[in-house]
Amino acid sequence: MVKVGIIGVGRIGKVHCQSITRYVKNAKVKAIADPYINDDTIKWAQDLGIFEIYTDYNKILDDSDIDAVLICSSTDTHSQICLEAIKKGKHIFCEKPIDHDVAKILEVKSALRNSNVKFQVGFNRRFDSNFKAVRQAVKEGKIGQLNILKICSRDPGAPPIDYIKVSGGIFLDMTIHDFDMVRFISGDEVDEVFAYGGVLTDKKIGEAGDIDTAIISMKLKGGSLAVIDNSRRATYGYDQRAEAFGSLGQVAISNNMQSTAIISDADGVHQEKPLLFFLERYMQAYVEEITEFVDCIVNDKEVSVGVDCGLQPVLIGLAAKKSLSQNRPVKIAEIESEFGI
Ligand SMILES: NC(=O)c1ccc[n+]([C@@H]2O[C@H](COP(=O)([O-])OP(=O)(O)OC[C@H]3O[C@@H](n4cnc5c(N)ncnc54)[C@H](O)[C@@H]3O)[C@@H](O)[C@H]2O)c1
Repeated sequence: MVKVGIIGVGRIGKVHCQSITRYVKNAKVKAIADPYINDDTIKWAQDLGIFEIYTDYNKILDDSDIDAVLICSSTDTHSQICLEAIKKGKHIFCEKPIDHDVAKILEVKSALRNSNVKFQVGFNRRFDSNFKAVRQAVKEGKIGQLNILKICSRDPGAPPIDYIKVSGGIFLDMTIHDFDMVRFISGDEVDEVFAYGGVLTDKKIGEAGDIDTAIISMKLKGGSLAVIDNSRRATYGYDQRAEAFGSLGQVAISNNMQSTAIISDADGVHQEKPLLFFLERYMQAYVEEITEFVDCIVNDKEVSVGVDCGLQPVLIGLAAKKSLSQNRPVKIAEIESEFGI
């Protein structure tokens, strides 16, 4: 049985806590830690059978009975906690992004090199059955040579402005998942990025120094082209679609609905809206990613979404940021050279 400590029990920490407790075999949540934990969360944890509840995550790192930690705290704490957990020999599942600062991700990468710690990044979409099916079709050559990859990723609504201010901007907060999908589905690396952005849903987002709408075009190293479109406001729900088009055909996925019922009447043909947001759409994927993490620990397997998978989308996000601010295409190599990679 892998004994787990969860650091940070906000939205995503609670999701992982629940899924381990209910669905992940071979794992048990032994303790949780959050400096701002409140009575409701304490009661919620106790109802799940978790009684070691701390405000200081060091209590988890110092517990020699705990094998692995899930780092689900705010982004600005991830890399520091990773470094401390590596020193204590804990296996790590770290929510995305590892850090906004490439130098700090490289520090984590270097510390991992000298350890036996399993390290997985929380790119949950890789575990979604639909995205996995697109990857599988591309990998097995069902669409021939990949020519164009299109990803549509629109949130139902923007997070609070205070969150936007510290989020690192849309490319590092939201598009980061889509950059990961480009790498995952294509099995290739991004060579060059050109980004357009606008403030079209809420001017407060612009005042906070961010954008809410974006189109990002990419050239991949193997020659394929990719495009992502993002919006912080889709009135009809969480819009998560993808299409891979190649020399032999195409593979596409649509949104998941509450039901597939279609009602036809004199006014038209009506279907349910897409599932509301990530907690609804990706719940099964969250269970699958932790199941794989635990399996890698129990059976000493290599993790499929490791530290490089955490690093690359940050480099692409920084290239997109630079492209937007300088209105020019930016090569990933240009960002890499800034960090001596
Ligand atoms: N993979 C995904 O789909 C996904 C979804 C949501 C969030 N995330 C990522 O997960 C992280 C958390 O996001 P969230 O939406 O749950 O945020 P949140 O604000 O709901 O929760 C973060 C929690 O971390 C706690 N915290 C802050 N500093 C801490 C520390 N030093 N030690 C322990 N706990 C600390 C806060 O008190 C809070 O309860 C972010 O990095 C975010 O990017 C990933």
